[in-house]
Amino acid sequence: MPTLIRNGRIITAVDNYVADILMDDGRIQTIGRSLPVGEDVTVVDAEGLYVLPGGVDCHTHMENTFGDSTTCDTFESGTKAAAFGGTTTIIDFAFQNKGTSPLEAIARAQTTAGDKASIDYGFHVIVTHVDENVLADMKTAIRHEGVSSFKMFMAYPNSVMVDDAAIFRAMRMVGQHGGMVALHAENGTIIELLIKEALEQGHTSPRYHGLTRPALMEGEATHRGIRLAELAEAPVYFVHLSAKEALKHVVEARDLGIPVFAETCPHYLFFDDSEYEKEGFDVARYVMSPPLRDKESQKALWTALKTDDLQLVSTDHCPFCMKEGHLGRVRQKPYGKDDFSLIPNGVPGVETRMTVIYDGGVRKNKISLNRFVELTSTAPAKLFGLFPRKGTIAVGSDADVVLFDPQECHTISAHTHHGACDYTLFEGRHVHGRVKKVFLRGEMIVDGEHWLGKPGNGRFVKRGEVGGY
Ligand code: URP
Ligand code: ZN
Ligand code: ZN
Repeated sequence: MPTLIRNGRIITAVDNYVADILMDDGRIQTIGRSLPVGEDVTVVDAEGLYVLPGGVDCHTHMENTFGDSTTCDTFESGTKAAAFGGTTTIIDFAFQNKGTSPLEAIARAQTTAGDKASIDYGFHVIVTHVDENVLADMKTAIRHEGVSSFKMFMAYPNSVMVDDAAIFRAMRMVGQHGGMVALHAENGTIIELLIKEALEQGHTSPRYHGLTRPALMEGEATHRGIRLAELAEAPVYFVHLSAKEALKHVVEARDLGIPVFAETCPHYLFFDDSEYEKEGFDVARYVMSPPLRDKESQKALWTALKTDDLQLVSTDHCPFCMKEGHLGRVRQKPYGKDDFSLIPNGVPGVETRMTVIYDGGVRKNKISLNRFVELTSTAPAKLFGLFPRKGTIAVGSDADVVLFDPQECHTISAHTHHGACDYTLFEGRHVHGRVKKVFLRGEMIVDGEHWLGKPGNGRFVKRGEVGGY
């Protein structure tokens, strides 16, 4: 059924104007002033609201397993939460265990998400082992499976960490075929040593998570990753960049014209390492990797978002509950109550991203309204091969549309959220800006407090080559 969104203010990465949008067959068909209303058309009044392209969150972990723990959001709960937060596409992860192939990993992830996701989704492959077969699979994944990005870890030795040669080989291969390696840049072996020494000295509390993952070692790994990419003549993407010590290498490389891209996440923009000075296990809610950084880093990240030294804001939504057994989830944060190194790493964020970046970024004059759309939708779509199908409001694009009230206030709380996690870092924060309605390919899936989406209605989106930025 066609739907006409009437009189909203359309905001894209470059536009800001009032018009009507006619959506049909899943796409945006017409944009114009005072469009005629056909008989079978549903009219939605958007007067006074912003009409935004659906958010694209290119870094989420739904029902991902790390070590002994699995993130508490399934594709069902996590994509519903994303939708209520104004995100209509996520890029999650397909995990290549040692001994399995990237193509098997993609097929397995598609099966997991298939009948649960209520918004559209793609995958990056987490590559933990590289050989000739894996390299051949990566090429096939880019060319035929619509999976053009591959996350590799420079941290977590003895589990997912790969060495520099593996990263270089992967970069060299994917760079030739329109793909990109995304790096988790922290120096894993140094961190492992610092964790061991802390535990030997009896330091078991969560605050030591922050103290054993120095910003300098994120900087070191970022510098190393850039040099590997330069040698491989391939683009590189840094996930969850948190520290000024890492940012400076990204800035320097981009100034030299090296194709280096990076994201940061809301938790690094709104919280700092003073959280680790508190005593007690509650600090576990801030255990993510990289950890929170100093206030100067936070300031530098905001500036970099403005100046395009950082290209986008993703969530790294990787939720683990603070209460063991919440909704039946086990091995959550309390798993590390006697040893901080066993606390599952990660925080929730998929439902709050758009609102906190609007409230804390646009309203506080740190970024423009157009830049807000670029950072949360257009840039991730372009960088990861989804544009112009996703990431903008244009004739022919998927009708993924968010009606957003820039004036309405509300107080963020896990109690009113739609995901499975029992906490949010933003609990009690009073914000301006609220998602009112969300359309996925022309179908309304969120209407105020009402959930109209359906598990299984989200589609796997095949992505094109990366870097169309
Ligand atoms: O702490 C985090 N970020 N956990 C998720 C896994 C990752 O490294 O992105
Ligand atoms: Zn990571
Ligand atoms: Zn992550």
